[in-house]
Amino acid sequence: MVDSSTVQFIRSSPRRLLVTGGAGFIGSNFVRYWCHHYPQDRVVVVDALTYAGNWQNLADLTSHPQFRFVKGDICDRSLIDNLLAAEAIDTIVHFAAESHVDRSILAPDAFIQTNIVGTFALLEAFRHHHPSQDHPIFVHVSTDEVYGSLSGDDPAFCETTPYAPNSPYSASKAGSDHLVRAYYATYQVPTIITNCSNNYGPYQFPEKLIPLMCINILLGQSLPVYGDGQNIRDWLYAIDHCRALDGVIHQSPPGETYNIGGNNEVKNIDLVRILCKLMDELAPNLPVYPSDRLITFVKDRPGHDRRYAIDASKIQTQLGWSPSVTIEEGLRQTVQWYLANRSWWEPLLGEQYQAYYRQVYS
Ligand code: NAD
Ligand code: TYD
Repeated sequence: MVDSSTVQFIRSSPRRLLVTGGAGFIGSNFVRYWCHHYPQDRVVVVDALTYAGNWQNLADLTSHPQFRFVKGDICDRSLIDNLLAAEAIDTIVHFAAESHVDRSILAPDAFIQTNIVGTFALLEAFRHHHPSQDHPIFVHVSTDEVYGSLSGDDPAFCETTPYAPNSPYSASKAGSDHLVRAYYATYQVPTIITNCSNNYGPYQFPEKLIPLMCINILLGQSLPVYGDGQNIRDWLYAIDHCRALDGVIHQSPPGETYNIGGNNEVKNIDLVRILCKLMDELAPNLPVYPSDRLITFVKDRPGHDRRYAIDASKIQTQLGWSPSVTIEEGLRQTVQWYLANRSWWEPLLGEQYQAYYRQVYS
């Protein structure tokens, strides 16, 4: 939560938020964070509930008096126009996206539709709506993947690093970032772009690296590591991402972009080994023990970016944000969450998931 004794608020509560993609992984962590810290704020979620969206992620918030859930598509202009007007929205926090690189390689169409066309629809709607609001803002939640791939000794990505996306996912996010930037420059729509590194934590859909490894260890299934396992990602606990967005929403002038990262560069194979160790320690009666016996190197992802690293000094200096959860602590909490919430992830491993799994891993 932003410390009101030390920072200058550009936008004070109570605010009226439209959170797109709020039933997904980061979106649902954000909605829970926001309802807890700013209970007087209106929080309207619009989410299409794709394979990645899950109403259960928000089930504990249904009795919150300021929370409203709307099942809908961000590409539906009339739905968005009506919501902005009826709810007098002053803040859009835009998470909704197709978000998985492997799916974008298998079937890019939905990525272009939601990530580019959907963002365009939201921007057009907000362009016409925002002049009626006090201190309006559109926060576009994007990724470090738009900057492409680093080699071992390259400096970390900063806000002025040229875009060089390598997957249909990152290209579609780059396209949406450019539209957001253009709407600020051309129409003075008050926008902010954030580019964040890999998130982890509770409620992440099972097919992403960390939940996939946790679940496969519990099921005694092989742990597929792409290529040589030496690819590097920077990892940030999802709640720290939410804290960064809190700072951006309350404190940042429009037209800014911020890189957000955990300062935790880890090789994939090292991360998988850490997860195995944590599971060996925390999970009783594992089907295969020690669980690192399950590690299997598999065919590499096409166009697999080698390394991501974030220089987060701008948000640290300007907004006073830094991560609060160490990677050791965050991974331990995440493993404990997947152990304690089998009833959340088990139903997600149905026929659709199995078909996806066979397509990527067989
Ligand atoms: P996610 O896939 O878990 O959730 C996406 C949500 O968007 C789902 O609830 C889905 O139902 C919804 N959605 C998809 N298409 C929609 C549409 N057309 N209309 C309305 N809702 C739709 O994704 P996530 O990991 O929570 O990522 C959220 C955002 O953060 C994305 O924009 C992503 O690019 C960005 N991001 C993610 C990470 C990460 O590591 N997960 C890192 C940096 C940035
Ligand atoms: P992922 O969670 O898909 O995030 P992103 O590709 O957006 O960074 O993957 C994180 C890293 O883990 C990435 O380098 C790909 C790798 N990976 C594997 O080695 N095996 C897997 O089964 C998955 C899903 C990912």
